[in-house]
Amino acid sequence: MSPPTPMTREELIELAALDALGLLDEYESALFTRSFHHAPAAVQKEIKDLQAAVTADPSLLPTAIEEMVRYWPPIHHFRRTAMRDVRIGDQEVKEGDKVLMWYPAANRDEEMFSNPDVFDIRRDPNEHLSFGIGEHFCLGASLARLELQIMFEELFAKVSKIEPVAPPRRLRSNLINGIKEMRVRLTPR
Ligand code: HEM
Repeated sequence: MSPPTPMTREELIELAALDALGLLDEYESALFTRSFHHAPAAVQKEIKDLQAAVTADPSLLPTAIEEMVRYWPPIHHFRRTAMRDVRIGDQEVKEGDKVLMWYPAANRDEEMFSNPDVFDIRRDPNEHLSFGIGEHFCLGASLARLELQIMFEELFAKVSKIEPVAPPRRLRSNLINGIKEMRVRLTPR
């Protein structure tokens, strides 16, 4: 097999742009509406109240966005290869082992989050791992947060009600926590 050739600058930019656009598109189209169908009944109520709460007090939007990102991480996992033997909690990991980092599990760790199964748009601090951790922490996290903030501000300014009208069609993927289609009814202001 021939040795791998390094990517050109243009290829790298193209890859990053594709990744970013894909993630954002996936994320923004699905995150808010997905809540209705994938949450337990008590949480569904919280989410239906979300728009009313945020409209009444727009300062809640940043913590509401963080909670959406914590509760439904758009990415299920990434993987690492152990460079040396290490112990993580009770688990021995050997050099060369592949380790999956399951973000939904990390985000429900009761040692880190009080009442982790409760969807709380006022949760603060909210040190979720949906954007990863450490040296590979998502380069686009600030952009993603800003886009979500603007998207919700604009959406709530124009729409008074968002209701799901059919069950969503989920993306078949163990990497992206996505939705292929979700029909909703929007009531204009
Ligand atoms: C809500 C949307 C997004 C989510 C949930 C997300 C999530 C993540 C996660 C979990 C990682 C860590 C990967 C790892 O540890 O191996 C990551 C890395 C990365 N993300 Fe994002 N991302 C999002 C949006 C974006 C956007 C908008 C961009 C670019 C504009 C972007 C660019 C990157 C890049 C370049 C890395 C690799 C960083 C590195 O390896 O040093 N992401 N992202």
